[in-house]
Order: sequence, then C-alpha cells, then structure tokens
Amino acid sequence: MAREILDDPVVRKVRDPQDMLDLVLGLPDQVLAGWEAGKEAELPPHPSPPSAVAVLGMGGSGIGGDLLRTLLAGEGRIPVVVVKDYKVPRWIGPGTLAFAVSYSGNTEETLAAYQMARDQGASPVAITSGGKLAEMAQRDGVPLVRIPPGFPPRAALGYLFFPMLAVLHRLGALKNLEEGVRECVEVLRSLGDRLGPSAPVDRNPAKQLATRLLGRIPVVYAATSLLEPAALRWKCQFNENSKVLALWNVFPELNHNETVGWGVEEELAQIFQVVLLRDREEEPRIAQRVAITVDLALHRARGLHEVWTEGYGKLARLFSAILFGDLTSVYLAYLRGVDPTPVPVIEELKRRLGEEERS
Ligand code: F6R
Repeated sequence: MAREILDDPVVRKVRDPQDMLDLVLGLPDQVLAGWEAGKEAELPPHPSPPSAVAVLGMGGSGIGGDLLRTLLAGEGRIPVVVVKDYKVPRWIGPGTLAFAVSYSGNTEETLAAYQMARDQGASPVAITSGGKLAEMAQRDGVPLVRIPPGFPPRAALGYLFFPMLAVLHRLGALKNLEEGVRECVEVLRSLGDRLGPSAPVDRNPAKQLATRLLGRIPVVYAATSLLEPAALRWKCQFNENSKVLALWNVFPELNHNETVGWGVEEELAQIFQVVLLRDREEEPRIAQRVAITVDLALHRARGLHEVWTEGYGKLARLFSAILFGDLTSVYLAYLRGVDPTPVPVIEELKRRLGEEERS
C-alpha cells in the first residue's frame, strides 16, 4: 500500500495539489537566497555586536528564533530570547537587536511585540513578505528584509531564518559562517536526492519512517540541545502537514519527568512511535542516557526509530534533521490522504479573532 501511494508521481499530484513536497525540497535554494538577502539587508544604525538578540515571531516564523538560540548557545557571548507572545520582557531595550519575523506580516502577536520592543528602545529588523509589518517597518525607517510571497510560512524557513544569521555575521556577533552555510546547502541537496520522491520506499528512510508512523502518535526526542528546535519543528510539521498530534522533548531534561510517564498502560504506550534525533557529535554521557532510557522506558512504545544528523558543522547537522522531518511529515500526509498545504483551522481562528476585533 505504502509503495503505491509514495512511489507514484500521479498519486503525488492528486494528494499534494499545491506541491508542498517541492517546497520542502527547495530548502537548500532558500538557504542560499535567505543568506544573500541578509548580506544585502540594511543594518540598524550604529552597527556593532548587540548586547542581546530577541526574535519575535510565531509558529513557522518563530521557530527561526529557537534555531538561532541553540546555534548561539555554544558561542556563549550573546543571549538570545525568543518571544512568542504579544509582550516582550522589560529588559529588552537599547543594545538589543530585535528581529520581528512574520511571513505574512499580519500576525497580531508579532506586530504587538515589534511595537513594544521599539517603544522600549530596541533596534528592530523586520523579516516578512509584506503585510502590516512591512508597512510599519517602512513607516518607522526600520531595516526590512523582504522575502518572496506566496509560500505557506512553514515552507519558507530558509528565507525566514538565514537573513538573521547573515545580519548577525555582518554585525560581528557570529564568525566564519560562510563555510558552514556552504556545507549546509551541500548536505541538504544530497539528503533531498536520497529522501525525495524518486527514491522508492525500499531505499528511502523518510518514506519508511512515515509508513511506521501511520496510525500512531509520533514522539520526537532530541538527544542533544542542538537538536531541540529540530524536534519542535518535527512536531509542528506533523501537526500542520500531516494533521496529527505529536509530542516532543529533549535529553537530558526528559529524564527528569517524561521518562516516568512511560509507565502508562500497555495499550496506551502502543499508540506511540518514538523518533530519536541523534547527533554525530553528541557526548558519550548523552549516548549512555539514551541507551538507559530506551531500556527503562522507551521500549514500551510501539516502535523506536533513530534519525542521525549528517554533515560536520552545526548548521548542516541541525538542518539535515529538519529536512528529514519535513519530508517524513509530507509522506505521512500522503499516506493519510490529507492535503499537506492548507491549515484551515489556523486560518479560521485568525478570521474569527479578526471578527471579534471589529465587533
Ligand atoms: C503556517 C504556519 C503558521 C504561521 C503562524 C504565524 O504555515 O506555519 O505556524 O507561521 O501562524 O504566521 P506568520 O508566519 O505569517 O507570522
């Protein structure tokens, strides 16, 4: 059954009329385009390394902030805060570089947070395809990175994230990134060839994983903090593309709570299929934790599957995990017979909130 659905280009056309799969496979091109857009972007006045970075954004736009936070965590010089809400913390002010990221430019939480960050004296940079955010940035004389319109926000991750990286590079907050971006693009291209639609189920691990996840609830665990936002991205892509519930968590924190939850009744444990995101650079202590956790708890799930990062640099490793998950979520949508692109529940929610505001 899986072969007939996942390996047939005609079925793909019918199940994915807006071609989400093609958008997902466009990630390496987006990485390059986003990086270039950030290199050409106007910088905030008095460019110098900021004392803190805030990323203001929701959902598919906000996840770029989570990626930035983990990538910068190792560097340890500049704190990054991700604001997924209407209000920003009081300490955000002069010296803080505030990326306001909204693909549509019309997400009310992001617009409110942008206004508040600006009022408190932060230096904003807007990243959007248009909407009110573009208007506000132009009105305020704030640097604006305009990205191409017409994508579902979650399918524009390269455009949304890489401008931030390039701007921070130019401000001297991050060093020697060119090589990491180049490697990331190479790894993503190679992965796209191996996991793309023309690689048949019997030699395509993303299609195989989607097949195992059908009828189960995916539980995605990141072995390391570098992969924490990748696990979140997997969960969100299962939600929005495959239209299923999913859980996510990260080692070592999950050893202090969620591991105990696997004491659930046998038949409930069997609903879950665990995906472990493993990093080739993970510490031996983490590998020990994962092995013990499998032994004590995770063996109770229906199944367990490991996905390993590829590449050497952090960017390539992180984004290889993301692309694997994006593709798996689209294949799972095909298997479930749902169109991966529309998210009517999110649209309806935004529409109703708009009505409430007007009444
Ligand atoms: C839709 C998606 C959503 C949006 C979110 C915020 O593809 O991923 O999570 O990203 O509703 O909207 P934007 O990105 O337009 O600010």
